[in-house]
Amino acid sequence: MSILFLQGSPVEPSRSAALSGFVAAELDRRGVENTRLKLTDLPAHALLHARFGDPQIRAASERVAAASALVIATPVYKAAYSGLLKSFLDLLPQNGLDGKVVLPLATAGSPHHALALDYALRPVLQSMSPALVLPGVHATDSTVAKDEHGNYQLSDDIIDRLLQATDRLVYEYRALLSRRAQQVEPVPFDQVRCSV
Ligand SMILES: Cc1cc2nc3c(=O)[nH]c(=O)nc-3n(C[C@H](O)[C@H](O)[C@H](O)COP(=O)(O)O)c2cc1C
Repeated sequence: MSILFLQGSPVEPSRSAALSGFVAAELDRRGVENTRLKLTDLPAHALLHARFGDPQIRAASERVAAASALVIATPVYKAAYSGLLKSFLDLLPQNGLDGKVVLPLATAGSPHHALALDYALRPVLQSMSPALVLPGVHATDSTVAKDEHGNYQLSDDIIDRLLQATDRLVYEYRALLSRRAQQVEPVPFDQVRCSV
């Protein structure tokens, strides 16, 4: 039970990965266990040919299944999200986000597609039965600038928004774990007495 980061950019270094790196560091600071899955580490032929049974795809899918929460970071590509991310989401089971909390993050060249997380990614995530898709954080490239050492520096505004998003993520994640810990075993249907 931990938080899994999915990195959906096909390039490195990546601005969207810089956003998730910031959230991951915040989770570390707060003692919340988290791990990272770089989608570029998965075999391209398996992604392109929808090889559900590929051992690396299965292992990645199992990591998603084992996580209680996901942080999904993607660049905006053609007014939506990356094809790499879509090709991986396509290989998850229909209810592959069942009961999970999801935080989407995106970077984009311009503010014109600031709603891409909401109109493109959110419906896809929602179709996979998550417990909750949190409000996403969208950042334009000018707010994730490269310094002279090649490292990405986040603007104060983006840092504020990421901190707020992390607060909410940790709150919902802990609430989810606590609900699960208190949950009584469901009574099988055939043992329920109906008095109709
Ligand atoms: C193929 C491609 C398509 C893109 N399409 C858009 C777009 O439609 N809207 C936009 O604002 N930025 C677009 N961009 C810019 C990227 O979203 C932006 O540079 C982003 O920060 C890259 O994130 P990354 O470094 O994590 O890959 C595009 C970039 C590429 C390479």
